[in-house]
Amino acid sequence: MSLRISVIGTGYLGAVHAVGMAELGYTVVGIDVDADKVAALARGEAPFYEPGLDELLAKHSGTGRLSFTTDFAAAADADVHFICVGTPQRRDSMAADLRYVEGAVDSLAPHLTTQCLVVGKSTVPVGTAAALADRLAKTAPVGAGAELAWNPEFLREGYAVEDTLHPDRLVFGVTSAEAERRLREVYARAIDDGTPVIVTDLPTAELVKVSANAFLATKISFINAMAEISEVAGADVTKLADAIGHDARIGRRFLNAGIGFGGGCLPKDIRAFMARAGELGASHSLAFLAEIDAINLRRRQRVVDIVRELAGGSVANRRVAVLGAAFKPHSDDVRDSPALNIAGQLHLQGARVSVYDPKATENARKIFPTLPYAESALDACRGAHVVLHLTEWQEFRDLDPVELARMVENPVVVDGRNCLDADAWRAAGWTYRGLGRP
Ligand code: UDX
Repeated sequence: MSLRISVIGTGYLGAVHAVGMAELGYTVVGIDVDADKVAALARGEAPFYEPGLDELLAKHSGTGRLSFTTDFAAAADADVHFICVGTPQRRDSMAADLRYVEGAVDSLAPHLTTQCLVVGKSTVPVGTAAALADRLAKTAPVGAGAELAWNPEFLREGYAVEDTLHPDRLVFGVTSAEAERRLREVYARAIDDGTPVIVTDLPTAELVKVSANAFLATKISFINAMAEISEVAGADVTKLADAIGHDARIGRRFLNAGIGFGGGCLPKDIRAFMARAGELGASHSLAFLAEIDAINLRRRQRVVDIVRELAGGSVANRRVAVLGAAFKPHSDDVRDSPALNIAGQLHLQGARVSVYDPKATENARKIFPTLPYAESALDACRGAHVVLHLTEWQEFRDLDPVELARMVENPVVVDGRNCLDADAWRAAGWTYRGLGRP
């Protein structure tokens, strides 16, 4: 008989995981405390934009193999339960807020009366899994028959469906051979594709995830530090990245200098990692991450400073077109978005900002309702004194600089992602400013 799976939490991670498990052929129930989210998913609508997700939801909704509910009792007879809830940054510190993972375990546990595996996928501070295992054993009626494992998720927003169905590696943090066997069964199809599987203990599995994100953040801040040096030395960081990226030990990916990283993972994960290291008495080991965070935040400031400089000292009443609000393309996510942060800073300094994003406007409005939003890139640019390119959507790369030059007041563009065709824009009469470029 095919495995029965429950997925607790239907946000970016859980919704995609639930749909991915249905695609692998399992019977899946997705559970969330948010009734609106559940209702949308039950209707076959993704509550956020993720390429490919709508199609798979439509394919599996109505087959009886994929359902969504707010009732934890629906998980009772599942063989494997995946915990996919969020671990946001706490309001009062840099640490991760564990109330949702703890709440998920507490809500699920009373329904666990038969042998099963509870698998954490959320990004958590090292040590959380062991504490959750104790909590589970104490509260589940089946006691130790509900075993806990950790299986971190490495999916990238925008490629979440692909990353879920074809992971580049699988990490199984387990405390028994039976748990490993079960996880190998769940992911059998992915493993058949040749996906490497690394089997570890619980703390290593938790650490793999946060250290991967810390490394990625470091790589981005490294190249952004080189951008700062390039700016004062008159060098071009994009050429520098190409040149060092050819060294296979370095690699060109994640070496794009610009306005830095944002989103629901990298910024909060490095902060939570530092906080946890402090609790473990090892703050010195991760002290460098504070610098990574600081370099990252300076890049946003740099764009604001460039606009002020271009405006002759003050941005008051200057019309600034902001192309992009999402933290990266192929996503409607504006959590800790550098683009939205820059737009907000300029707006608060009195600039007449007009923001356009192909997918993220609705979410941007929720967190920054007072910003003016445009209906199209051309609308945002009409009459602008300066155009900021802040999220590298293909739509923005495809803009015709000749046509756009006719719409603006002043043909000045700041390319916060260093990916517009600088020569083409200059040839069309624009003053082109990249970041970390002459
Ligand atoms: C990240 C990790 O990549 C993923 O493995 C983990 O599971 C969750 O966190 P995600 O947040 O979806 O995924 O986005 P990612 O593609 O990593 O980009 C993060 C940020 O870094 C974006 O704001 C992006 O614009 C920025 N970035 C990325 C750069 O500024 N330069 C780069 O070279 C690459």
